[in-house]
Amino acid sequence: MSRILITSALPYINGIKHLGNLVGSQLPSDAYARFMRARGHEVMFICATDEHGTPAELAAAKAGVPVAEFCEGMWQVQKDIADGFRLSFDYFGRSSSTRNRDLTQHLAGKLAENGLIEEVSEKQVYSNADGRYLPDRYIEGTCPNCGFENARGDQCENCTKQLDPTDLINPRSAISGSTDLEVRETKHLYLRQSAMRDDLDKWIDSQEGWPILTTSIAKKWLHDGDGLRDRGITRDLDWGVPVQYEGAPWSGMEGKVFYVWFDAPIEYIAATAEWADANGLDDAAWESWWRTDKGADDVHYVQFMGKDNVPFHTLSFPATLMGSGEDWKLVDFIKSYNWLTYEGGKFSTSQGRGIFMNQALEIMPSDYWRWWLLSNAPESSDSDFTWESFQGGVNKDLADVLGNFVSRVTKFCRSKFGEMVPEGGEYGAAEAAVTAEIAKRLKAYETHMEAIEIRKATVELRAIWVAGNEYLQAAAPWSVYKTDPDAAAAMVRFALNLIRLYAVLSSPFIPDAAGKILAAMNVTEAGWPDDLEAALSALPAGHTFEVPEVLFAKIADERREELEAQFAGKD
Ligand code: 2FM
Ligand code: ZN
Repeated sequence: MSRILITSALPYINGIKHLGNLVGSQLPSDAYARFMRARGHEVMFICATDEHGTPAELAAAKAGVPVAEFCEGMWQVQKDIADGFRLSFDYFGRSSSTRNRDLTQHLAGKLAENGLIEEVSEKQVYSNADGRYLPDRYIEGTCPNCGFENARGDQCENCTKQLDPTDLINPRSAISGSTDLEVRETKHLYLRQSAMRDDLDKWIDSQEGWPILTTSIAKKWLHDGDGLRDRGITRDLDWGVPVQYEGAPWSGMEGKVFYVWFDAPIEYIAATAEWADANGLDDAAWESWWRTDKGADDVHYVQFMGKDNVPFHTLSFPATLMGSGEDWKLVDFIKSYNWLTYEGGKFSTSQGRGIFMNQALEIMPSDYWRWWLLSNAPESSDSDFTWESFQGGVNKDLADVLGNFVSRVTKFCRSKFGEMVPEGGEYGAAEAAVTAEIAKRLKAYETHMEAIEIRKATVELRAIWVAGNEYLQAAAPWSVYKTDPDAAAAMVRFALNLIRLYAVLSSPFIPDAAGKILAAMNVTEAGWPDDLEAALSALPAGHTFEVPEVLFAKIADERREELEAQFAGKD
């Protein structure tokens, strides 16, 4: 048994996420966590909301509520949606927690002790009307290059020229529109990442078997241009972890907070501390997952994220942990995902294009989404959501293959033998053949899950379902029954055991259906089939069950067309 720590990238608090966000981190990490638990490992699965930064402040302002209140409400919304998708986090924390505040300040202090923090004086735009400094992208004006009137302080969207806010002609605040702006000199803390280039380089080189997507992004940032230049880790904002705290090794930092990307990954650790607090456990409980000097040396730590998050997880966060000089657990494996597109284009919040997590749950049960998304996860390249493909996944894989198998077998048994595993006959060559086929597929399925090749694992799982269908079709107990009821009984007994097996193997992907099947089959304890033959005799003759209600409803063409129109967006 191993101890496996799993974190999913933290969703920003400012709005409800779309299906692309879900499949890029939370969903595959959940399937992996469920699989590892089913295999008997001790798992700690952590996620949280990423609550700081300007977007949260602006979203709160737009909603007309104080930012703390906005975040509290939105955390609950995101938590409910996560529950709806059956994401089995051991804890879903909040980066605005006191645990994260304390740990973020602590780590910054350690970095300073080790000479890795530098105070840098910067020129920044202050808006008198808004009473605040403006981040570059919240200053708008006319592009000096092409004359575009709505260029942002960091870049002109029209001609793509990278800009400094002071380049803009007639600059104004994007928040209030005010032109009453002035440039002020202000002091910030920089993390001296460049001083850690060699350590990071060595650490990345020492990782075995990381996905190419992960290492190529890390290496590019490490060696190209200014990827690893020293970066400001503080901002002039109200909402965030205060930089000036009691005993801080710097002064004059009132009114500043740490940059959201500095404190967000620290929340992986802090959320585990929140978990301990919520469960009445002491610090040793969470430290045993995170401190290599306190028991975490045997932990295997896996992170899941979209590819845009990779630089922060391969460079800045490890730099924070290593630079602290303390014995923090570093990640062992980073699983990163490509993008999910929607009907050939981008998901767009502003255009109302694509499906958001709350909408998805209103339309279809979570298992349908889980199955399609995981069996089409953007693992080796981007994948495209289309309603047609979704309809195919639900109707063919779930309804025709798995659902139909369960329904045919249980109904046939009920009609001929009653709702009880029938007695008589013995398993023969056909059963041995399908057992061998499943054993081979099961091994592949396990290997893919261990390697976190989720999409490949679903191919094997589907093939395992198909093997049962083909067996049933060839064995044809409904014909055999007429001449040899005992032989038919053995076939049905075998098929009922396959149903139980399918529920266990499918549970990482479609936990609700798996639970329903197990309940109908009257099974309370079902471990992983380490011994496949034994697992296929687990339900003995005389074991009672009930025919389950329809597991998966097919999606009709008219319904699909309706949904296509509903989510097509404004244009
Ligand atoms: O890209 C995002 O959605 C970020 N909120 C991910 C943060 S991951 C972690 F480091 F907190
Ligand atoms: Zn321009």
